[in-house]
Amino acid sequence: MKEDSEYWVAESIKDVNFDQKYTMGSELGRGASAVVYCCTHKETQKNWAVKKIVKRPQSRVFTTEIKLLLGLQHENVVRMKEVFETKANIHMILEFAAGGELFDRIVERGSYSERDAAAAFRQIIQGLKYLHENNVIHRDLKPENLLYLTKDEESILKIADFGLSKMITPNIMKMSICGTPSYSAPELLEGKMYDYSADMWSSGVILFILIGGYEPFYAPTDEKIFARILRNQWKFDSPFWDNISSNCKDLVSALLVRDPAKRMSAPEVLKQHWVMGIAAKEEQIVGATERLKSFNARRKLKGAANAVLMATSVMKVSSKAED
Ligand code: ADE
Repeated sequence: MKEDSEYWVAESIKDVNFDQKYTMGSELGRGASAVVYCCTHKETQKNWAVKKIVKRPQSRVFTTEIKLLLGLQHENVVRMKEVFETKANIHMILEFAAGGELFDRIVERGSYSERDAAAAFRQIIQGLKYLHENNVIHRDLKPENLLYLTKDEESILKIADFGLSKMITPNIMKMSICGTPSYSAPELLEGKMYDYSADMWSSGVILFILIGGYEPFYAPTDEKIFARILRNQWKFDSPFWDNISSNCKDLVSALLVRDPAKRMSAPEVLKQHWVMGIAAKEEQIVGATERLKSFNARRKLKGAANAVLMATSVMKVSSKAED
């Protein structure tokens, strides 16, 4: 990372305008409160991702939080380079993860084993461990936020989009949860106090999907998904889980635990033989790619519909606040 060493300056919010230094490119993704685009640094012609957040009137960005995020540096975490703030917008310049989403890559590859899943999962947990050590809770860990740095087969996997939810308003936070309840810990859905263990729950949901190819709390409506999560209603359905190693199932069971205090932590997960690749089976998981393919297609369709719905609601919230 030699070329970047001068780049990563933990600068605070800038007076210079985003447009003076960068050229905006095409859209990469859209969430409840922000849109992510590709952008090019004019001086170096290097590509970055930029997260553009439309500010609510009177809202303040918490400089201390941004400083914390600017200081984070781990290979499994998308790096934040600099931040620009104007009256209307915040532009966050982020490391550009050009390799695409984890689940898309798995589907493209055709077949995979428990060992492949463990290798990806280990990187997610390494990133989470680092965030948690630095007092950052992701709060919105989901497949869309798990990105490969490059198209290379050996590319590093990175966690994106962490630590931003505290800076956005409670209303937008609620909408964001409504957008994707599937990965949210029960205590978050209940509006209770939560801590790092909320991310561990989400990692359990992701691990379940990686192996099973379908969601543990699947239901036809968001309300029903909510209800299943709150009751912790999931199981290792036959035949999908029949040939999966007990080490893997034990890990899923240690993460999808209703009581946050009893959930396994990131350092504990990293000590598990399955995660280390020792106890993970090498043979293909039968049918998982096909199931994951249809799960992915459904997820993207739902994501696109939700983005439109949420953008409309955010506009409504903002215009109400302006009244
Ligand atoms: N989508 C969201 N964040 C991204 C990033 N940092 N790089 C590429 N695509 C993204």
